[in-house]
Amino acid sequence: MPLIKTKKELRLQLSLAKQKGSLGLVPTMGALHKGHVSLVVKANSENTTTVVTIFVNPTQFDNPEDLDKYPNTLQADIALLNEISNEIIVFAPIAAEIYGDEMKSKTYDFGGLDKVMEGAFRDNHFEGVGTIVEKLLTLVRPDRAYFGEKDFQQLQIIKKLVALSNIPVEIIGCPIVREASGLAMSSRNQRLSSSLRKEAAFIYETLLTAKFLFGTKSAKIVTEWVADQFEKNTNLELEYFTITDIEKLRPVQRKRPNTKYRGFIAVYAKDVRLIDNIALN
Ligand code: PAF
Repeated sequence: MPLIKTKKELRLQLSLAKQKGSLGLVPTMGALHKGHVSLVVKANSENTTTVVTIFVNPTQFDNPEDLDKYPNTLQADIALLNEISNEIIVFAPIAAEIYGDEMKSKTYDFGGLDKVMEGAFRDNHFEGVGTIVEKLLTLVRPDRAYFGEKDFQQLQIIKKLVALSNIPVEIIGCPIVREASGLAMSSRNQRLSSSLRKEAAFIYETLLTAKFLFGTKSAKIVTEWVADQFEKNTNLELEYFTITDIEKLRPVQRKRPNTKYRGFIAVYAKDVRLIDNIALN
């Protein structure tokens, strides 16, 4: 499997790959788990060649400690990708290769999609995500790019980004993959102690009940109910639970007919920040 570190080398491999057929891109920050595997397997089944990028993008972290602690498991990641196919192109550059000496984000007008939830709690996060995803899409020029719905807000922002920047690519969202306990797969789960990892199953359990309640109760009542559950839980601290429509991500005041809603949650398990979301109707 070609492991590529430079843009020059990547361009060469891509020109060969493009002669064979279509190209699928799976951008990741490494520490690969079954959620990533599902994206790569899908990309591989829908394209002639799959490119996986492994790059922990500094500009999307507002907390230097979170960046420092982000797991780096490159050798294990490559072994895992090799099990899927030994023809995957893996691009794992250093930051200077991507940003040169200007480690900066661009600014975007995402039409408010970036102002709520993750955008409200993580300064400049989506400008950083937009910047790196635009760079990767422009570099690789894939036919399709794959992103997990665990980061549903990110997925909607990336769809907006490609429309804004006229990037000819199909953005494909893939369902959340969960551990047996229901906890959404995340590279951050590795940082949880085994007892906290079990405890964190509470997040999805609460989302499932919230979905049930949303069938008959208002968004306000469901939101307050979720907050109450976390008040009673001493190991997990709720940062937010927000219900929005799935298109504009506007926090819902009153439920409207013919509108799809999703509940979004961010929780601290000690110093590990976990996010999840669920379709409510
Ligand atoms: O979802 C992620 O892992 C990252 O935000 C992404 C899309 C790879 C950009 O760095």
